[in-house]
Amino acid sequence: MAEKPEQKKADAAPNVSAVETVKAASEEEAVAAIEANVGRGEPILQVCNLKKHFPLTQGIVFKRQIGAVKAVDGVSFDLYQGETLGIVGESGCGKSTVAKLLMTLETATAGEVFYKGQDITKLSGRALKAVRRNIQMVFQDPYTSLNPRMTVGDIIGEPFDIHPEVAPKGDRRKRVRDLLDVVGLNPEYISRYPHQFSGGQRQRIGIARGLALNPEVIICDEPVSALDVSVQAQVINLMERLQDEFNLSYIFIAHDLSIVRHISDRVGVMYLGKMAEIGTDEQIYEHPTHPYTQALLSAVPVPDPEARDHRERIILTGDVPSPANPPSGCSFRTRCWKAQDKCAQETPLLAVPEIFRTKDIPAAHESACHFAEEKDIVNAA
Ligand SMILES: Nc1ncnc2c1ncn2[C@@H]1O[C@H](COP(=O)(O)OP(=O)(O)OP(=O)(O)O)[C@@H](O)[C@H]1O
Ligand code: SF4
Ligand SMILES: [Mg+2]
Repeated sequence: MAEKPEQKKADAAPNVSAVETVKAASEEEAVAAIEANVGRGEPILQVCNLKKHFPLTQGIVFKRQIGAVKAVDGVSFDLYQGETLGIVGESGCGKSTVAKLLMTLETATAGEVFYKGQDITKLSGRALKAVRRNIQMVFQDPYTSLNPRMTVGDIIGEPFDIHPEVAPKGDRRKRVRDLLDVVGLNPEYISRYPHQFSGGQRQRIGIARGLALNPEVIICDEPVSALDVSVQAQVINLMERLQDEFNLSYIFIAHDLSIVRHISDRVGVMYLGKMAEIGTDEQIYEHPTHPYTQALLSAVPVPDPEARDHRERIILTGDVPSPANPPSGCSFRTRCWKAQDKCAQETPLLAVPEIFRTKDIPAAHESACHFAEEKDIVNAA
């Protein structure tokens, strides 16, 4: 795999405007988020207490709401210019729903998503169209996300129908050929159909379509999960090269902790619709303080037999609770080996834990746990 991209976060002045715009679940959480991010420059995206509750209804003719699936239940994070924020978590924890909310493909139940300071959850019409141009998506499955009846040229050039200002009609074919070249495909393939390409090549086509409108942010929802391991590395390398070339900011959603570590500058760990822990890749992988992150990392296979003998494998008991009926207090408490009475009564905030707040150590990062502490984890990720 290619070398890890440099940390591109600007060493700019403290993030003053974030103080004005961040509206997190509580004042304390907002202040903690701002303090944790001072010195990184202006965020390009600020996600504040974002929620998506899907209504659960009963009855066929007279539908009445009997509850709600809390797919995303108060998620806050920032994305900085040129960085990659990885998002990991078990199936069903709300990763794709977060992606769809950021793309405005779903309407938020509550919360805000600021793009360069503008709340996109409240936009409509031309203003929303203009923002959408700058936030694009690459989907998981390159086999179903490309229309089999359209040529590659039409697929990649389709966004120009909505945004003709980016490529006027006469320039489109040239622009599509350039995009094919940028993603490492032969521009002569412009008239071929998706079935004439391998999985890796199809994902390159998906990436070219994502790049067509010169976006600033690309949301990648499991972009390599459907590909062979050898092809995964090629596509990741391509994404890293494009990020450097076009100064893109990525949100990279995946199950594979090793891939997320490889590509991400920072990583957020989600559990049952909430962010459990967020920090730099080193903070999360080497110094996790949330029991859920520790359990996830302890499950990564370790190839080195000596390291394997010294590791403690944390086996979580019980199933993930239903997002329609999450536990009170800390949503992880039904599976947490450290749970105490306080965990059922008080919802832990995503903030730098009290015990680390004054210390300049890697454990001093945001973790939503009343009893956050470091634990030796030998992981291969
Ligand atoms: N349109 C919908 N209506 C009702 N419930 C939904 C809808 N979309 C998602 N959900 C529920 O919301 C929760 C989160 O789903 P989501 O697809 O965001 O999870 P995910 O983390 O992306 O999972 P995976 O890793 O399997 O892709 C799940 O319980 C899912 O069943
Ligand atoms: S708050 Fe309590 S239940 Fe939740 S992760 Fe921390 S110790 Fe476990
Ligand atoms: Mg998903």
